[in-house]
Amino acid sequence: MSKSDNLRKAKEVKNDEFYTRLEDIETEISSHPDYVRQFQGKTVLCNCDDPEWSAFYEFFRQHFKQLGLKKVITTHFKKDGTPSYKLEWDGEMLGDDTVNMIKTPLEGNGDFRSEECIELLKEADIVVTNPPFSIAREDFVPLLFKYNKPFIIIGDLNWITYKNIFPLLRDNQMWLGYSTVKEFKTPEGTIKKFGNKLWFTNLDIDKNHEVLPLTKNYKGNEEKYLKYNNYDAINVDKVTDIPKDYDGIMGVPITFLSSYNPKQFEIIGFGSGYLGQSIGITGIPKEHKAMMKGHSAAGDLYYMMANGKPKVPYGRILIRKKEMSL
Ligand SMILES: C[S@@+](CC[C@H](N)C(=O)[O-])C[C@H]1O[C@@H](n2cnc3c(N)ncnc32)[C@H](O)[C@@H]1O
Repeated sequence: MSKSDNLRKAKEVKNDEFYTRLEDIETEISSHPDYVRQFQGKTVLCNCDDPEWSAFYEFFRQHFKQLGLKKVITTHFKKDGTPSYKLEWDGEMLGDDTVNMIKTPLEGNGDFRSEECIELLKEADIVVTNPPFSIAREDFVPLLFKYNKPFIIIGDLNWITYKNIFPLLRDNQMWLGYSTVKEFKTPEGTIKKFGNKLWFTNLDIDKNHEVLPLTKNYKGNEEKYLKYNNYDAINVDKVTDIPKDYDGIMGVPITFLSSYNPKQFEIIGFGSGYLGQSIGITGIPKEHKAMMKGHSAAGDLYYMMANGKPKVPYGRILIRKKEMSL
């Protein structure tokens, strides 16, 4: 391995060791009856979770009865390459307060991509974990889809701008869960704050069926909703400003995804970079780029004109209202 590979690896490992707090798992899962009822009789796999410290393991142990689980399985990764083990519990007690955990050695180091861990993935009904940040988007999520697994996992808001994740959100194969996760524990026992971590799931949750109330009018307020020069859509700066009387395409902030109901809206695309290009958004003409001196987003592929000057809005999701039959 080259020196730079080693450095990258070291950085990855460092960036992966952030542990979820029990209260954040409870806030997302056990306080929502729509999630709870979907665990009935199920086998849960936590495949990035060392039972010695993982709050996911602790959560499923404590909430085993509430969720009506059949079994919980945890596996974890040994960075030094030594063999890991799996821990399983089917709810059986040995006496009043001793849980009958079955510990079985694994052949390998517990990498969720290994054959033996994939066998456990196949056995599981639902996967619940906070996967390693460094390989979650590229390796963990695709594996869940390859094996068609229901899941509740922690991920990053930035994922939605990537070409392997955005289509899954657009095509309603996964969506945002209820809460954001602001704090994680470090191996040193300190707390690290994040502003962009949140839950993703493909379980059917009530939130996706709630209708976003639309109160604003486009007609009569056209000057507030600028049209993009190079895409046939209007710009909407706040989710609460989405007008009730505009039937064309609208560019809305990413936070829209928290209130997205697929019966109310369709997602058309994401308005910048490769994803923007793939829906026909063209580059910014040279003369306009020149007017945007020093604008760090000048490389973005779409822009709008405001007060005679080009202005690139923040990342926008392009959506259209659907005819709803409520
Ligand atoms: C963000 S941490 C979260 C840990 C735990 N799930 C939690 O929420 O507290 C991700 C964990 O995945 C582990 N990990 C890294 N690469 C892995 C792999 N290939 N397979 C399984 N786990 C891995 C890391 O060592 C780290 O402990």
